[in-house]
Amino acid sequence: MANVTIFGAGYVGVPTGAHFSRTHKVTIYDPDANKVETITKVIDGSSEALHIHEKGLIELLRENKNNITVTTDIEKALDKPEIIFIAVGTPPNEKGRANLKYVKSAAEQIAKYIKNDCVVLNKSTVPPGTAYMVKEIIDNNLVNKVKISVGSCPEFLAEGTAVEDLRTPDRIVFGCDDKEALETVSEFFLYLHGRSTLSPMSTLSSEITKYAANALLATKISYMNSLAMLCDAVGANIREVQEGVGKDQRIGRKFLNASMGYGGSCFPKDTSAIAEYGRLFNSPLEIIEATIEVNNKTTSYFTSKIIEVFGNDLAGKNFIVWGIGFKARTDDLRESKPVEVARELMDKGAHIHIYDTVKGALDNFVAENLSYVGKYTIHTAQYGMVSETIDALIIGNEHEKFRNPDVDLLNVMRGKYIFDGKNILNNYLIKDLTAKGFIYKSIGKDAVANEIDKNKLVDFLKNEYMD
Ligand code: UDX
Repeated sequence: MANVTIFGAGYVGVPTGAHFSRTHKVTIYDPDANKVETITKVIDGSSEALHIHEKGLIELLRENKNNITVTTDIEKALDKPEIIFIAVGTPPNEKGRANLKYVKSAAEQIAKYIKNDCVVLNKSTVPPGTAYMVKEIIDNNLVNKVKISVGSCPEFLAEGTAVEDLRTPDRIVFGCDDKEALETVSEFFLYLHGRSTLSPMSTLSSEITKYAANALLATKISYMNSLAMLCDAVGANIREVQEGVGKDQRIGRKFLNASMGYGGSCFPKDTSAIAEYGRLFNSPLEIIEATIEVNNKTTSYFTSKIIEVFGNDLAGKNFIVWGIGFKARTDDLRESKPVEVARELMDKGAHIHIYDTVKGALDNFVAENLSYVGKYTIHTAQYGMVSETIDALIIGNEHEKFRNPDVDLLNVMRGKYIFDGKNILNNYLIKDLTAKGFIYKSIGKDAVANEIDKNKLVDFLKNEYMD
């Protein structure tokens, strides 16, 4: 059992701390007294209200409460930790660069208060080289004569599944140029995971790995989104193509779902950040640049399907959006594509009726869209807004509740349009909807509901492919 300290009680710090507390003594430090009080109350059982919505997190914190301390007291937080994880925010600036001010202030505090040798690992997503900068800040400000090694330990958890992702990781990446420190970190993780899971490496490689992984996943999505647009153009079905492609184990089935674009706090931020970093080092990452471009284009492609039907002036039009979070089961609206689409439609005069399974997502929408007051209505029942005044249903995220819409209930809508931004309706349902007069639009599987114009395609080939 080791003593570890985590800087930052956020989306990464708290689930990570809870996970480590299964076998280690963990102190989570955050200067925000409200956050610390909230978590402390949740741990002692006097409250259920946690600012981080992760399945199983509250239970895990309570199960291991004897191993967890949450504090605003920096001296207590730095009382003999063997490893310190920095998991503070790195919000991007307008150029897409991660702002390192919170990382810097964590490094300064460590330098001031640490009294023992230890290893400091960055968990926050930072530009490669940051660990060296942190090391320099610590060494320059160190009050007590101790040895501090600095490296990186990037986090790969996804929002909503953090507890499970942390419990069963594909790999634990950590990097440090100091071999002894690398051994200390390996030992720490061996209490939690098998040796084959561990990927020790150099500092810079581990820092690059974080961006490389997220950008590749984002690229898989953009790649499929490009193909989805081609599928719509010729009349193929991207879901079937996805099935055929993904069964090749070299490619893998995951992250091949075409959608109105990826959102969230990581993919948009990390792709922009690493693309910018590549440009700065005169080593442009053309594929990632294209990934970003396609992602933006896909959202416009989806919105343009709605505008094609209803025109540019949407005054008097009423649309439903089911799912406003950037993905299902989150209150997080950062870079949420359904929010982007809803705003564009409201800008053109439409009224939007919004439902999400997560109440916090609806609350956040209200808080973040003050300039749109009067242009939308929030609903806490999935079918509460379905009436003869509605022109179309837009599916915004991939929650199971949206996969099987009740066609009879939707039938009262005056506009029989369904825009499926996450391609989640299955072929049988689409055919049923079509038979009842609905028009189905998606990202690459519109063909399910349409007769393919084979003659047009054949004529095209005859004209373009024969000398
Ligand atoms: C992601 C990574 O999965 C995680 O490993 C990393 O640490 C942080 O970034 P997260 O942003 O929480 O996690 O969500 P994720 O489930 O990966 O989804 C990101 C976005 O991509 C969502 O908008 C989702 O709807 C979209 N997506 C995902 C697709 O459009 N298609 C897919 O096939 C998968």
